[in-house]
Amino acid sequence: MTITKTAFGQTPDGQTADLYTLTNGNGMKVQITNYGGIITSIVVPDKNGKFEDVALGYDNLADYIKNSPYFGALIGRYGNRIAGGKFTLDGKEYKLFINNDPNSLHGGKKGFDKVLWKAEPVEGADVVGLKLTYLSKDMEEGYPGNLNATVWYFLTRDNELQIKYEATTDKPTVVNLTNHSYFNLAGAGNGDVLDHVMMLNADRFLPVDKTLIPTGELRPVKGTPFDFTTPTPIGKNIKADDEQVKFGNGWDHAWVLNKPKAGELTLAARVVEPTSGRMLEMYTTEPAVQFYSGNFLDGTTVGKGGKPYKFRYAFCLEAEHYPDSPNQPKFPSTVLRPGETYRQTTVYKFSTK
Ligand code: BGC
Repeated sequence: MTITKTAFGQTPDGQTADLYTLTNGNGMKVQITNYGGIITSIVVPDKNGKFEDVALGYDNLADYIKNSPYFGALIGRYGNRIAGGKFTLDGKEYKLFINNDPNSLHGGKKGFDKVLWKAEPVEGADVVGLKLTYLSKDMEEGYPGNLNATVWYFLTRDNELQIKYEATTDKPTVVNLTNHSYFNLAGAGNGDVLDHVMMLNADRFLPVDKTLIPTGELRPVKGTPFDFTTPTPIGKNIKADDEQVKFGNGWDHAWVLNKPKAGELTLAARVVEPTSGRMLEMYTTEPAVQFYSGNFLDGTTVGKGGKPYKFRYAFCLEAEHYPDSPNQPKFPSTVLRPGETYRQTTVYKFSTK
């Protein structure tokens, strides 16, 4: 297992971002830059041993800085949407940047995906990894409290990419961290993902309004197009005549994960690409997963190797607390107080079938 480092490019304020390459004994390779904590590539074998990069992204830092729909990035301080870009905590109202009219999305104008993290390689008996730290200052992007965030990426001997998050604060705040990797198990840029077959371990999902804010209802998936409790092609019901499917322009919703005990690391999703046989299993401690089917990709984004990323050329499985939790007291809390430690673990396990 090895980890190596090369320069990746300069940030607009003249700092150097590095690119770390993690490899294990099976030839699986993961590349991560400390700019935004972005996973830039994940190279895994298919059922015949042919390797492909299954993560969407760019060849160089400049393209990430110019325009990226959060390819591979760490998302914070709050993953997904906060309604109206505001919330009240302990009687005080906080205003956020509205970057997804009329809401605030993925941390605001300059979220954790656009900052330079401090990076430190770590090596264990069965893993090779990268530890990233970032201090988000009090009132940065409108969020209260100095937040010390730490994220570990680990590549294991059995082709798992583990992500561990921790955060502490010196004032009450809200936290919802995730990773926004875009996957295509046939290889990034090699067609759409509608034939990928997916299972979501979720009996309920969160219906949304037109602006993709949860209505507060936890709706059973049974009898709706949102039922992925058994393996189902992603494209099967994506054009269903259903208000919720239309609001998302396809899949862009949070599914509530079946979890015997809150905070337990359990299977959230299993996705298989039938031709290559590549399989991705996701485990998480989080209560929900935002399943997004690349509905905003439109071919104008040209990615690694000059390949255009077209409509629905990828899927994202973002482990998280429910969107808009700071405004919805009935949802599991995303409030972090001084003395507490925010923790989440998500595992993406690659294999073949
Ligand atoms: C959101 C989508 C958004 C995408 C990229 C997802 O988490 O739910 O609505 O377009 O991220 O920004």
